[in-house]
Amino acid sequence: MNAPHFRQEILALESSLWQAVTNRDSETLANLFADDYVEITLNGSRVTRNATVTESPLADEIESWAITDEECVQIAPDVVLLSYHLTLHGQSRGLPIAPPDRWATSVWRKNRNTWQRVLFQQSRYAGQSHKLQPSDETPAIRTMEFDDLNDVIKLWEQSEGVFLSDSDTLPALQNYLRHNGFMSYVAVADDRIVGAILCGHDGRRGYLHHLAVAASHRRQGIGGQLVESCSGRLLAEGINRFNLFLLNNNFIGRTFWEDLKCEAWDQCRILSKTIESD
Ligand SMILES: CC(C)(COP(=O)(O)OP(=O)(O)OC[C@H]1O[C@@H](n2cnc3c(N)ncnc32)[C@H](O)[C@@H]1OP(=O)(O)O)[C@@H](O)C(=O)NCCC(=O)NCCS
Repeated sequence: MNAPHFRQEILALESSLWQAVTNRDSETLANLFADDYVEITLNGSRVTRNATVTESPLADEIESWAITDEECVQIAPDVVLLSYHLTLHGQSRGLPIAPPDRWATSVWRKNRNTWQRVLFQQSRYAGQSHKLQPSDETPAIRTMEFDDLNDVIKLWEQSEGVFLSDSDTLPALQNYLRHNGFMSYVAVADDRIVGAILCGHDGRRGYLHHLAVAASHRRQGIGGQLVESCSGRLLAEGINRFNLFLLNNNFIGRTFWEDLKCEAWDQCRILSKTIESD
C-alpha cells in the first residue's frame, strides 16, 4: 500500500535524522532510533543502535546530504518503509565518503505515538539514468568499485591503444578511485566487465584515462556512454572540461574522440618525470 499521508511525516523524520548526524547531535539521534535498531552498511557490516548513536557522531563528518527519488510504502498499520537515493558528502573516519551516492532503505515504526527508525540498509547506486537494462545482454553502466579492478586491468591488458604503467597496479588504482571520489565507470553485460574508464579532476580540469571496450562489444555506443557518464559526474562537480591522453598511432581512438567533438592540441607536449625517493 502506498503511504502518501505518511510521506511528508516520514520524509521530515528521515531529514531530521540526517541533520542530526550532520550536527553530531547524539541526543536527537537517540530519540529517533528504536531500541532494537539495526543498520546494514554499504560494506556489508551489521551495526547495532549503540554503535550508531554513540560512534557515528564521532566518526562521521557530514558536510551535506540529499534525499531524492523517495518511495514511501506502508507495510503494516504502524510500520512504513522509505526507500530513496541518498547523496552524502563529507568524511568518515578521516576518509572521503565514497561513493557519495547510494540507495537507502529505512523502516520506521510507531511506538506509543512516536515514530522511530528500526532498520536502515544501504546498497550500491547504479545511477539514475543508467538503471539496469531489461535485457541481461544490454550492458549497464555503473560506478567502478574496488572489486572491479582486477577485471578492469585484464580488460585494459587486452585492449590495444591502452598504455599501462606502474601507476596501474591494484593499490595505485584503489588510491585513484578513493582520491577521486569514485567517479570512474564500468560497463557490465552478463556479469562481465565489458567496458571501463577512469575519471578524476584536480578541481579545475577533468581527466579521463584508459577508456576501453571489449572487442566483442564495440560499436554499440558503450564507449560513448562511458564518456557521457564521466561528463555528467564532472559537471556535477562544477568541472566543464576534460583532457585525455591519446597515443599518436591510435587511429580508432582518434576517430572515436573526434566523433565526440574533442579537439587535439598541437601546440603543446606532455612532459613527465619520475620522482626518485632517496
Ligand atoms: C575506442 C573505443 C573505446 C570505442 O568504443 P566503442 O564502444 O566501440 O565506441 P562507440 O560505439 O561509442 O563509438 C562511437 C563512435 O566512435 C567512432 N568509432 C568507434 N569505433 C570505431 C571504429 N572501429 N572505426 C571507426 N569509427 C569508430 C564512430 O563514429 C562511432 O559511431 P558509430 O557507432 O555511429 O559508428 C574502443 O574501440 C576500444 O576500446 N579501443 C581500444 C582501446 C582504446 O583505443 N581506447 C582509447 C584510449 S584513448
